[in-house]
Amino acid sequence: MANKDLRNFVDEIDGIGELKRISGAGAEEDIGGLVDIHMRDLGNPALLFDDVPGFPGGHRVLGNIIMSRPRCAIALGLPPEASEADLIAWWRHYLGDAPNHPPVEVNGGPLVENVTEGEAVNIRTIPAPKWHEHDGGDYIGTGCMVVMRDPDSGWVNYGTYRIQSHEPRIATVMMSPGKHGRLIMEKYHGRGEPCPVAVVAGMHPLMYMIAGFEVPYGKNEFDVVGGMLGEPVEVINMPKTGLPVPAGAEIAFEGFIAPGDERMEGPLGEWTGYYAGGQRPEPVIRIETLMHRDDPIVTGAIPGMPPNDNTYYMGAYRAAAVWNQLEAAGIPEVKGVYAHEAGGSRMWLTVSIRQMYGGHSKQAGLVASQCHGGAYANRWTVVVDDDIDPANMNEVVWAMCTRYDPRDDTDIVNGCWSTHLDPMCYDDDTDRRNSRVVIDACRPFARRDTFPAVARSSAELDARIREKFGEHLPAKYR
Ligand SMILES: Cc1cc2nc3c(=O)[nH]c(=O)nc-3n(C[C@H](O)[C@H](O)[C@H](O)COP(=O)(O)O)c2cc1C
Repeated sequence: MANKDLRNFVDEIDGIGELKRISGAGAEEDIGGLVDIHMRDLGNPALLFDDVPGFPGGHRVLGNIIMSRPRCAIALGLPPEASEADLIAWWRHYLGDAPNHPPVEVNGGPLVENVTEGEAVNIRTIPAPKWHEHDGGDYIGTGCMVVMRDPDSGWVNYGTYRIQSHEPRIATVMMSPGKHGRLIMEKYHGRGEPCPVAVVAGMHPLMYMIAGFEVPYGKNEFDVVGGMLGEPVEVINMPKTGLPVPAGAEIAFEGFIAPGDERMEGPLGEWTGYYAGGQRPEPVIRIETLMHRDDPIVTGAIPGMPPNDNTYYMGAYRAAAVWNQLEAAGIPEVKGVYAHEAGGSRMWLTVSIRQMYGGHSKQAGLVASQCHGGAYANRWTVVVDDDIDPANMNEVVWAMCTRYDPRDDTDIVNGCWSTHLDPMCYDDDTDRRNSRVVIDACRPFARRDTFPAVARSSAELDARIREKFGEHLPAKYR
């Protein structure tokens, strides 16, 4: 049986009323404008655009894809009613010791329903929206995967790096320094050889989610996806590069990046909520082959002022990654972690602990702000007691207002790992580090037995009220 693909996902979210179909919206500003408005509040439906003017032949675009908890749950293979805690527990399991399955090669699949090669290739037939008003061009790849093979070890890496569509056979790829795709490309170029590359521009969201996470160097992301699906990912090899892409993908193309072949790219409104990064020369992909299904669907995971579809779903993953890494660093009694979407699920972390000893909360905060899962582009790390729900910002801000002493409980950490997309990094050309704050908003350990009691009913009084007056209570308290 074939793997679950994007169309299964679309049917599933349609089945729970979380999909809206819109015909006739244009790629120049309508699609981007509609997605922008729908992304402003979590829980709005995903948008499937068809009959895009100028793009005959059934081409479609999917946006606002996983901007609700039920849609995130479905993407992970969980029931739509799964809670935020269920999503975090799922990620903790799969980031831990869950089994992996390597991909398997198959002879064909829906992706090869339409194949063009050489001079016949034209990626401009695929709707690549201009997602924001001030973007520098059309992006065919946001919720995408870029596939490359390490020339030394043969390891295949899948990374989510944005792809701008320029001409029928020309696209650019923006890979930040240190990203695995860039490291692989630099190896080919160091030998004076062109780098083979394949781009998958429409697929089941689980695939671009994993390609967009920091899976360790040397590990094939599809081994991880296979573990999550409970079956190997079925792949076909692209004809010119031999690079494996999912047989059930919507759209894929392949080509080569020659050494020194660059073109101005961007800007693209980014996940921090700014056009940071500007326009720069980036590597050019000269395209040899284009494949797509009938009526193919481009998957857009659009960055922008948070919450946005590029980072919202990362909150549960990041919470799980930081939680696992805190435990691996020996921090006891971690009760919860949350990465708030206002910080692109990176810039704000809350950790809740049951305090065991003096210095425990400081240790938890400093480690969370620097471990692999938490370090990149963080700005605020807040540690709270375990009576605070880290996902409830009202409770977190209340703890910061009432249990935090700025004299003793603030650490500013300088020179940390960040990115030029962070508008407050030191210098977006030469020094992309930032500084950040670690706030200890736990009750002072020495006053834990004498700190004023919280003015809210006890669980016992709540239970007595529920028993007597249940029908008068708001639904969530019954
Ligand atoms: C939707 C999405 C878009 C992304 N766009 C880019 C990008 O344009 N350039 C980049 O360097 N990283 C981008 N990232 C982050 C990388 O995908 C992420 O760091 C990932 O770990 C890269 O894969 P690698 O670890 O194999 O290098 C994006 C992530 C997501 C989820």
